[in-house]
Amino acid sequence: MQTVTLIPGDGIGPEITEAVVSILKEAGAEIEWDIQTAGADVAEKEGTPLPDRVIDSIKRNKVALKAPVTTPIGKGFRSVNVQLRKSLDLYANLRPCKNIEGIKTRFDNVDLVVVRENTEDLYAGIERQIDENSAESIKIITRKASLRISEFAFDYAVKNNRKTVTAVTKANICKLTDGLFLNCAREIADKYPEIEYKEILVDNLCMQLVQNPEKFDVLVLPNLYGDIVSDLGAGLIGGLGIAQGANIGLETAVFEPVHGSAPDIKGQNKANPTALLLSAIEMLKYINQKNIAEKIEKVLYKVIKEGKVLTCDLKGNASTSEFTKEIIRNL
Ligand code: NAI
Repeated sequence: MQTVTLIPGDGIGPEITEAVVSILKEAGAEIEWDIQTAGADVAEKEGTPLPDRVIDSIKRNKVALKAPVTTPIGKGFRSVNVQLRKSLDLYANLRPCKNIEGIKTRFDNVDLVVVRENTEDLYAGIERQIDENSAESIKIITRKASLRISEFAFDYAVKNNRKTVTAVTKANICKLTDGLFLNCAREIADKYPEIEYKEILVDNLCMQLVQNPEKFDVLVLPNLYGDIVSDLGAGLIGGLGIAQGANIGLETAVFEPVHGSAPDIKGQNKANPTALLLSAIEMLKYINQKNIAEKIEKVLYKVIKEGKVLTCDLKGNASTSEFTKEIIRNL
């Protein structure tokens, strides 16, 4: 039995968490959940949206499954997600984007992996109001973080039989910051002669991704570009409802979908739990419950391929609970 921290989040978080927990239970996952709430409601009661108990729980258990947590826009507390990644030094954000059979999209051969640096860049949150009409934000890029994220990307490529790693920057404009990131990527690339190394500017990448996404394999990016490009990648394969992710550090990993708390569909039993479920499947593999992971994966792909019981983001008319029941029935 493995103890795993579970953060149900807010918005659609609790609905999709309930769905995923019931599927894992039915599949026989040997997990004891250490449930830890975080977010705006917690801030009201405990004075902070991310109390120490949450961090302590993840440090203790070394692995967590996390649903989305809302971040106030343009005001309010700092993102719980960013704080969590920073305080646990979860330096790599891994976001694979692969077509799923049965989900009709403009392309049918997308299979790329976004490796996003997760601890610095404009997410450092160092901002200043200069005067009423101007503000500034500091973009931090360090050699240490840039080297280790490139190392992660190349290591991932080797272990997962990938052919190419492409470093994505805007080093023509941000010559010092993105320039440093690029130099670090080149340094690491030299250590991996078996992997082809390429470079591209982020604007050009976006254009090429919506024209020929099949050309791309592993992408390594600083934090902000990685965030934006991974949503683009989700769009290529059918939307945020199916886009999984993981935040990985040296000792700890937090598995969470790419999407946010989707306040527009909160509480309507409409959300697609697939992105969280796929993240949970990766988590099961990580904690050596591969058989259970594969069992769920097989059923999930079967239900999606059949296309009879799908949530509305995938052009179906099933609710979250109907989709969940269909998976459980097939298990
Ligand atoms: P969002 O990802 O929550 O929603 C974007 C669109 O995708 C919405 O139309 C939503 O209904 C749809 N969508 C997202 N997940 C879905 C699912 N599972 N099933 C069906 N449809 C789904 O992005 P948005 O609206 O920009 O952000 C909302 C909040 O979430 C913000 O406070 C943001 O800061 C937070 N957020 C949190 C993240 C996290 O906890 N890791 C990541 C991204 C955003």
